[in-house]
Amino acid sequence: MNIQWNAKDYTQNFSFVHQYGNDLLALIDGEGLSVLDLGCGNGALTHRLQQAGYEAEGMDASPEQLEAARLSWPELTFRLGDAADFQVDRSYDVVFSNAVLHWIDEARQDDMLRCVNRALKPGGQFIFELGGRGNNALIHGALEQSFAHRGLAYQRPFYFPSVGQYASRLERAGFRVTYAVLFDRPTPLNGADGLYDWLRMFIKTPFEQMDQGEQEDILRETVRALEGALYREGVWYSDYVRLRCRAVKEREPEGQEKPAH
Ligand code: BEZ
Repeated sequence: MNIQWNAKDYTQNFSFVHQYGNDLLALIDGEGLSVLDLGCGNGALTHRLQQAGYEAEGMDASPEQLEAARLSWPELTFRLGDAADFQVDRSYDVVFSNAVLHWIDEARQDDMLRCVNRALKPGGQFIFELGGRGNNALIHGALEQSFAHRGLAYQRPFYFPSVGQYASRLERAGFRVTYAVLFDRPTPLNGADGLYDWLRMFIKTPFEQMDQGEQEDILRETVRALEGALYREGVWYSDYVRLRCRAVKEREPEGQEKPAH
C-alpha cells in the first residue's frame, strides 16, 4: 500500500505510535547490537534505539518521512527501501519494526519476511509489533456500515493476522518463534476531533475514487456511530489490538535464491 505521508502532521498528532514502541525495545536480547528499524517513519524509534546503546539504522519507503528523520537526527543512517523488496549490503543482529507490517498487503508478507531473514545474521532476532486480529474492528465495522448506507462496498485496507497465522508464516520463512502475544490496547487519541483526525490520517485507499463531499459525509457518520463505544469522558479512543513477537533466524528462507548483487 503506498501512502503519501504528511510527516509534520504525523509527528505532531500521532507521536503515541512511537511512544508505545518503547515497550518493544525490551524484547531485544543483548547489548550494543546492530539493529535495522524497518519502516522507521520519522526516525523517533531509531533514535531511541541508538540512545539505548544499539548501533541503529532506519529504513522507510516514504521519502517525506525520511527527510524528517534525517533533519532530526543527521548523525544516523536512514535508507530508502520497501519492506517487502529490499536488500542490504550488510547484515544485522536485529530487525525491529513497530506499527508498520499491517500496511503490507497479505500477498507481500512472505516477500517481506524473506527480505528480513536475508538481512539478519544467523541467530539474528526479528522483533516487531503490528495490528493483530480484531484490530480496529469497531472502526472498520462502522466504516463498512457507512459505505453500505450509500450502496458502496468497503474494502478493509490492512492485514491484521492472528498469532497462529503469523507464527506459521514466520516458521515457513525460516524463523523460530520464541514469543508471540495478542492483546487489546485501547489508545487515547489527541484532540476534540481525535477519531475524525485519525480516520483522515490513516484511512486513505477506500476513499481514493470518492469526491470530497461524500467522503466527509461518511467520516462524520462513522464518528457519530462510534461515539457510544469509543468516546469516554471527553476523550476519543482507537480500539487497537496488538500482535507482538520475537522470532529468531533459524535457517535461510526457502524459495527464490538470494539474488547476486
Ligand atoms: C495500527 O497501528 O494498528 C494502525 C494504525 C493506522 C492504521 C491502521 C492500523
